Amino acid sequence: MTPDAKTPPEPRPAISRMQPYEWEPPSAAIARQAGVPEDQVVRFDTNTFPWPGAAVDRLAPEPLNEYPDTSYRGLTDAIAGYTGVSADHVTVGAGADEVLDLIAKAYIDGSAAALISRPTYPMFTVLTEMAGGTIDAVPAVDLRVDRQPFLDRARRARLTWLSNPNNPTGELLPFDYVEALAGITAGILVLDEAYYEMSGVTGLPLIDRMPNVVVVRTLSKAFGLAGARVGYALAGPAISEALRRVRPPGSISVLSAALAVHSLTDLKGMRESGWSASQANGPGCNSSLPDSASRCVNRPPTSCWFEQVVSLHRSYSVQAWSSGPSRPARCWPTSSGSRSASRRRTIV
Ligand SMILES: Cc1ncc(COP(=O)(O)O)c(C=O)c1O
Repeated sequence: MTPDAKTPPEPRPAISRMQPYEWEPPSAAIARQAGVPEDQVVRFDTNTFPWPGAAVDRLAPEPLNEYPDTSYRGLTDAIAGYTGVSADHVTVGAGADEVLDLIAKAYIDGSAAALISRPTYPMFTVLTEMAGGTIDAVPAVDLRVDRQPFLDRARRARLTWLSNPNNPTGELLPFDYVEALAGITAGILVLDEAYYEMSGVTGLPLIDRMPNVVVVRTLSKAFGLAGARVGYALAGPAISEALRRVRPPGSISVLSAALAVHSLTDLKGMRESGWSASQANGPGCNSSLPDSASRCVNRPPTSCWFEQVVSLHRSYSVQAWSSGPSRPARCWPTSSGSRSASRRRTIV
């Protein structure tokens, strides 16, 4: 048999069984489909922000011939300073997605059932199944977590994934409920707070008294650094130690770490961009996030927040122009005068 004719070994059974992540179409493809220039596409489907975060050219030159400091000391200290936790409670990763992956690697195996409320962030299922575990899903009722059944099922879950606020429903669970969940489960509670800067609600105080809680955050959203790929976990010593065991040594580039440090230590840009919870009640969906959930039946309420922010800062309003059963709504902005009067943007 020639080497070319060899059949490679099958991947692990869990990999063959799992449903892989469905990648979003690139902005260029959306622009082609909508017949607009690519720079006119504003994406809501990835919940990213239409403004760039910290600019590389504002940074001191970084030597790229060496690997990053694998302890990521500077970045870890900046996160500790921003969040108010001690540096040994911080574990960094290449985006929240890598941090979620570290959690799955550390805590999920073939015997583990992980709990989700459905719908939620799809990576929870992907990572659980990749690690060989199974998903126990409690269906949401009217796009809200079915609270009592979710609590009941959390009791025996090895790990519970909770996005708060939830992507894609936008529901924000109160601290009391999150605390009850952490107390009732014998397993790990993962609080994915990718949108914390929008909601202002956090389960972070729990990590000091509940060793089974881990909070996951990102610089992809409020800080406008989705392309840089920086996220982090905040947890007590036991979980932090487990995550560090499985963390790859250099997955955050030197440039990304420097951008993140810059953003975390100079919060002016992030606050002025309109993301902070205090500014999010502008025109459009001027309600709190849970109320938005009921007002925006056909589209993720998180989008309403984006619409508010866009409206506030660009002086144009946004309206839904189509929505499908499986994808977030597409919104078409209509000008309300001022700067963007003659510009159309396709918002996906
Ligand atoms: C709930 C949630 N968690 C995590 C992520 C991924 O964040 P990152 O870009 O840091 O990997 C997203 C991105 O959309 C998200 O919505």
